[in-house]
Amino acid sequence: MGEGIVIAGVGEVADGGVLVVPKSTTHTEEDIAVFRVGDDYFALDDMCTHQEALLSRGWVEEGEVVCPLHLARFRLSDGMPTCFPATWPTPTHRVEVRDDVIVLFPGVPAEGAPVLER
Ligand code: FES
Repeated sequence: MGEGIVIAGVGEVADGGVLVVPKSTTHTEEDIAVFRVGDDYFALDDMCTHQEALLSRGWVEEGEVVCPLHLARFRLSDGMPTCFPATWPTPTHRVEVRDDVIVLFPGVPAEGAPVLER
C-alpha cells in the first residue's frame, strides 16, 4: 500500500459533511468523495453507478449515501448498492486518521470492500 495523500486535518470536514478530492490529485478515474460520519470517514468514487450523478451531492442516511438523481443507495463501508436502480457497487478507497490528519489511499479498497475491476 502506498503512502497515501493527506487530504485535510481532522475537524476540517464537518460531521455529516463530505470532501471531494479531485482526480487530478488522486490520479483515479473519478473524483473521490470522502464522507464523515461521527469519527468515521468513508471514501467512494464520486459517481453513481446507475447514471451520471455525483454522490457528493446526495445525502447520508443510516450508513448509506443516497444518490440525488434517482435515489439509489450505496453502503458507505463497502460501496455496495442496497436498492434499485443501481445494481453495481461503487469503488471504495481506504481512509485512515493519523495523528491529526485524514489520509486517503486512492485505489486501495476500504477494508472488507470488494476489489472491483476499474
Ligand atoms: S444516477 Fe444515481 S440512481 Fe440514477
